[in-house]
Amino acid sequence: MSKGEQFDLRPKEVPHIHTKYRTIQTTIPNPESVAIIEGLRKYEPISMSGQPPVVWDRAEGINVYDAQGNRWIDMSSCVVVANAGHCNPRVKQAILDMVQHGLLNNYVFPSAIREKLTKKIIEVTPPELEKVFLLTTGAESTECAIKLARTYTRRHDPDKNIVVTFEDGFHGRTLGSQMAGGSPRDKQWIRNLDPDMVQIPFPNSFKYEWADQTRSDYSDDRCFSKLLEHLERAGIKNHDKISAIMTETFQGGWCELIPAGVLQRLRRFCDAHHIVLIYDEVQGGFGRTGKMFGFMHGGIVPDLVCCGKGISSSLPISCVAGRKEIMDLYGPGEMTSTHTGNPVSCAAALASIEYIVENDLAGHCAEMEKVMAKRVAAIQQKYPDWIGFAKGVGLAWAIIPVIPGTKELDCAFAHDVVRIAMEKGVLMFAPVGSGATLKLVPPLVITEDALLEALDVIDESIAQAIAERG
Ligand SMILES: Cc1ncc(COP(=O)(O)O)c(C=O)c1O
Repeated sequence: MSKGEQFDLRPKEVPHIHTKYRTIQTTIPNPESVAIIEGLRKYEPISMSGQPPVVWDRAEGINVYDAQGNRWIDMSSCVVVANAGHCNPRVKQAILDMVQHGLLNNYVFPSAIREKLTKKIIEVTPPELEKVFLLTTGAESTECAIKLARTYTRRHDPDKNIVVTFEDGFHGRTLGSQMAGGSPRDKQWIRNLDPDMVQIPFPNSFKYEWADQTRSDYSDDRCFSKLLEHLERAGIKNHDKISAIMTETFQGGWCELIPAGVLQRLRRFCDAHHIVLIYDEVQGGFGRTGKMFGFMHGGIVPDLVCCGKGISSSLPISCVAGRKEIMDLYGPGEMTSTHTGNPVSCAAALASIEYIVENDLAGHCAEMEKVMAKRVAAIQQKYPDWIGFAKGVGLAWAIIPVIPGTKELDCAFAHDVVRIAMEKGVLMFAPVGSGATLKLVPPLVITEDALLEALDVIDESIAQAIAERG
C-alpha cells in the first residue's frame, strides 16, 4: 500500500543558485545523495521513503544543508519540530552540557532537570493546568490523554466512555491514537475498531459552507449546531455518555483554527456534560500559531493538553499537561514510561521553551503571519484556477492545488511544486494531510526577507508546474 509518489532519483541539471539564504550548486539530487537514499530504500520499509531527495547533513536556523554544499530554506521545520530554529545554539549547548555532565537516562528516578522542565511547562500554560506528565512521542501523549479522560469520567459512570474526535484529524500512528484519528484509510489495518470512538466533521471552510467564516451567512451558533447535528448522526443521543472531546489545534492539511466562538461553545458544552476537553497541541504548541498555545486564540482552557514536536525543537520528548484531579488518578508507579523525562531531552526542551519565551517567538510568529497572509493571498489570486485553498495561522499555512474548474485536489500538481521548489532551494515535505497540501511551516525564527524569498520561490514553482503541464 503506497500513499504518496516517489520523487525521481535521476540527477537533474538545474540552474545554480547563490542567494543570501539558498545555495544550489550540484545536480538535484546529486549522485552522493542518491547512493544514500538507495541504501535507505534497501534497508528501511517503503513507508520511510517519499520525501524530497535531500539528504540532511546538518541544519541550522532556517537552513538545511547537504554534504555537497547545497542549502535550502526549510519550510518544514523537520515535521513542525524546529520551532526555535534548527540546532538552536542554546538548545545545542544545553544538550552538550547534560551529556558532558554525565546523565543520559534516569528512568523515573528524580532528576533536577525534570523538576526544572515540568515547572517551566506549568509556568507557560494557564493556571488551571497544574501538572504535567512527560513522555516521548506525540502519539504517546494523545493515547495517555484518552486513557486519563476515560479513567476520570468512568469513576462515576462506567458508561461515560465515548471519545469524540474529528474527521481528517491526526493524533499519531499507534493503535489508540490512530483510532482517534479521522482518516478511515489509516485505520484499515484495525479489525476491532473501538465503537466508542466517534468522528465528526471539523469546521473546514473548504469542505463545509457552514464553517466558512468569510460567508455573510456564517454564524458561530450555526457552525456549532452543525457539530451537534453530526454527533446525533453518529448515534450519540445522550451527551452525558461522552467522556472526552479531543481536537487538534488545526488540522495538519488545512491549518485552520476552530473559530473562537465555536470553541467557546464547545467548552461550555463540555462543562455542561462533564466532558474532558483535550487539546492536541503536538503540532500547534509552543508559538506556532502566534500564541504560546493554539487554544489561547479561543480564550478557553482545555482540561488536558498534549504537546510534542516543538516542545524541544530537537530531541524526542512530549507531554500531557492537565488539571490536577485528572492527572493524579493513577497511584505511584502506575503511570510511567521508560524514557519519561529523559534528562538530555528535558535539557533540550527547557532551553527551547526558555528561548521561545525570552525571544517572544510567538509574537514574532504573529508578525510573520501578516507577511504570510499577504503573500499567500497574492499567490492564490495569481493562480485562481489552480489554487483551491490557501489559509493558515501564525507560521502554519496550507496551499492546496485543485484540478482547474473543480474542487478536486490535485496531488500530482502539489508533488510537482514540491519537487521544483526543492530544485530551487526551498524545502517542503511531500504533500501532506489532504494529500495535496503544500505545507508552509518554517522555523519560527525566520525573518521577513527570508520568508519572502521562500514564498517567491514557491510562486515561481507553481508557475513552472503549470508551464510543465503545457
Ligand atoms: C496533531 C498531532 N498529534 C499527534 C502527532 C503524533 O506525534 P508523533 O509522531 O510524535 O507520535 C502528530 C504528528 O504529526 C500531530 O501532528
